[in-house]
Amino acid sequence: MTEIVKIKGLQKKFGKFQALSDVTFRVGAGEVVGFIGPNGAGKSTTIRALLGIIKRDAGKAEIFGKDVWKDSLEIHKRISYVPGDVALWGSLTGGEIIDLFMKLHGGGDKQKRDYLIKRFELDPKKKSKGYSKGNRQKVGLIAALSVDSDLYIFDEPTSGLDPLMEAVFQEEVEKIKEAGKSILLSSHILSEVERLADRVVIIRQGEIVESGTLDELRHLTRSAVTLATEKDVSKMETVEGVHDFMQKDNQATFSADNKYINDILMEATKLGVKKFEAVPPTLEDLFMRHYEG
Ligand SMILES: Nc1ncnc2c1ncn2[C@@H]1O[C@H](COP(=O)(O)OP(=O)(O)OP(=O)(O)O)[C@@H](O)[C@H]1O
Ligand SMILES: [Mg+2]
Repeated sequence: MTEIVKIKGLQKKFGKFQALSDVTFRVGAGEVVGFIGPNGAGKSTTIRALLGIIKRDAGKAEIFGKDVWKDSLEIHKRISYVPGDVALWGSLTGGEIIDLFMKLHGGGDKQKRDYLIKRFELDPKKKSKGYSKGNRQKVGLIAALSVDSDLYIFDEPTSGLDPLMEAVFQEEVEKIKEAGKSILLSSHILSEVERLADRVVIIRQGEIVESGTLDELRHLTRSAVTLATEKDVSKMETVEGVHDFMQKDNQATFSADNKYINDILMEATKLGVKKFEAVPPTLEDLFMRHYEG
């Protein structure tokens, strides 16, 4: 797979504070990578280092095979970036700012711009100093999505958007994903990441603690199982991979290691299965595990 973003052993200190101690991950061509982690974990710092806004202390960081610090000007021509707090020039209207941004990015697609202004229900004629937080976000998103970039970097892009507009954002991102673009998406809205991301990277205290596809991450964790059997269900308590076993009559609930789920089902079959329900963990469950641990 062609690598669009490649970060290895990235480190960054602010004074004595080690904000990033070991950040390593990749974004492949056509891949959407969800970048998640608790507040202060280092997501925005990683992204700012990628954008060449801050200089890393150590490690490797490349976009399109080029160094993010030395070659930032060249890289910027091919990427779109939307932060969680889009800042605007107050005396310009939203529409003027969108056009300015598009010009800086080699023109962009005016039809797409007009379509997105409608989709996001933005009034482009208003002076931007009068915009609400959500409207400022819309300006940033419309500008970013109207230019044809090879890599889109979003750092909590939907903060301040209402659920309807959040859905519009997700649909539009799905379109650029289908067009084969690469996307790095940092978000606290885990349902958004769950829907859009091919792979998830979890950062905590400046270190990547886990990464993989959602299926791979789920495989490492437990599903919530409800099981009812004809024969005595209590036999299931000692089966490998069964945890937190609770029983009421012939129905049991327990959590099950996903790698043992087949064995567990085989054992259950011996008792005559009347009901078997296994609910895999949500991304939120996975996240909470790291957050609490
Ligand atoms: N310019 C700076 N000077 C000093 N400390 C900083 C600076 N920028 C970030 N930090 C610190 O680095 C750590 C990582 O911050 P960062 O903004 O990357 O977190 P984040 O993962 O984006 O969090 P959030 O989810 O709240 O956006 C935090 O402890 C933050 O206080
Ligand atoms: Mg942040």
